[in-house]
Amino acid sequence: MLKEDIVVSGTRPTGNLHLGNYLGAVKQFVELQDLYKCYFFIADIHSLTTHPNPKDLHRNVKTVLVEYLASGLDPDKITLYLQSDLPQTSELYLFMNMHAYVGELERVPTFKEKVRTQPDNVNAGLLTYPVLMAADILIHKANRVPVGKDQEQHLELTRVFARRFNNLYGQEIFPETQAYGGNGKLIKIPSLDGTGKMSKSDNIDSCIFLRDSESELLRKIKKAKTDTGPEGEDMPISEPVQNILTLMEYTGNLEGVAFYKEAYRKANIRYGDLKKQLAEDMNLFLKPIRDKILDLESDDKYLGKVVKEGAEKAHISADNTLNELKEIIGFKKFYPVN
Ligand code: ADP
Ligand code: TRP
Repeated sequence: MLKEDIVVSGTRPTGNLHLGNYLGAVKQFVELQDLYKCYFFIADIHSLTTHPNPKDLHRNVKTVLVEYLASGLDPDKITLYLQSDLPQTSELYLFMNMHAYVGELERVPTFKEKVRTQPDNVNAGLLTYPVLMAADILIHKANRVPVGKDQEQHLELTRVFARRFNNLYGQEIFPETQAYGGNGKLIKIPSLDGTGKMSKSDNIDSCIFLRDSESELLRKIKKAKTDTGPEGEDMPISEPVQNILTLMEYTGNLEGVAFYKEAYRKANIRYGDLKKQLAEDMNLFLKPIRDKILDLESDDKYLGKVVKEGAEKAHISADNTLNELKEIIGFKKFYPVN
């Protein structure tokens, strides 16, 4: 990455942040905030595709804000704001929609998945979800977007829209945006049920939340899927057991991982002990974040100040992009400005 890189990313306020959100995205936000100009936001407009009740939405926005800060985001180093506090994004979304074709949007895997899982609510906002996401990114001309593996195709579309726009107007207005996954690759944190990605919209018991208490962690991890045990020595490690080891690796207990791998190889692994160890490691790993969540969540005054100042900072960069764009598009003023 270059010193002048601009970083943007966001999270939908649909519940508590989980380990997948943290390891796949937020941890990278915290690392990048010391190095680059960063804009991180809460994608409250994106979450409207599922028609949340207003009280839940408001609560969830606060939850993500608190959990962002507890994870280490520092509002003095970055610009932290709510998507709905930056109307310039919605204006750019409108312009970008003219460069997005229905056919390509219908082919987006996340859209196809929604059509399958919620056939009664296939709204236009769902179809144009990647366009709004491109607007979030391009409003600050970001070239780096820290996200998990599931967002790869959305980033590909951001590049397509930006390129089309640049080609049409013959100018390099927008940069080539790349997804960023920390040490070289985008990651997918597995669910505790042995398959798929950890997600708050799936089984809540298979999802580790940053604010889970020690006893909650133990309860969930005890239920994690394993296998019936290796049938002999030197068997390849099955997917659900490997997932548990992967989670242990992320907590930093590499010795533990080596120990249980060897136990699997020798076919004398004890899953009860493995899970107890993971619960202990996970608790140590998450405790500092959990403590900060509990500290911050009653400080509405501070939270309000953070997003107010964040919105003010975000407006500066967004106005610059939008003014430049309008000029290029042909929306020149017929009257003197100032
Ligand atoms: P969810 O899928 O739980 O609704 P979001 O869609 O709000 O989560 O994701 C917010 C960020 O967290 C995105 O960058 C996304 O790629 C990342 N993320 C979500 N789940 C995982 C996971 N299991 N592994 C890695 N990254 C993830
Ligand atoms: N689509 C992302 C998710 O579901 C959230 C998001 C919205 C986002 N706009 C973005 C992520 C811009 C990165 C950049 O997790």
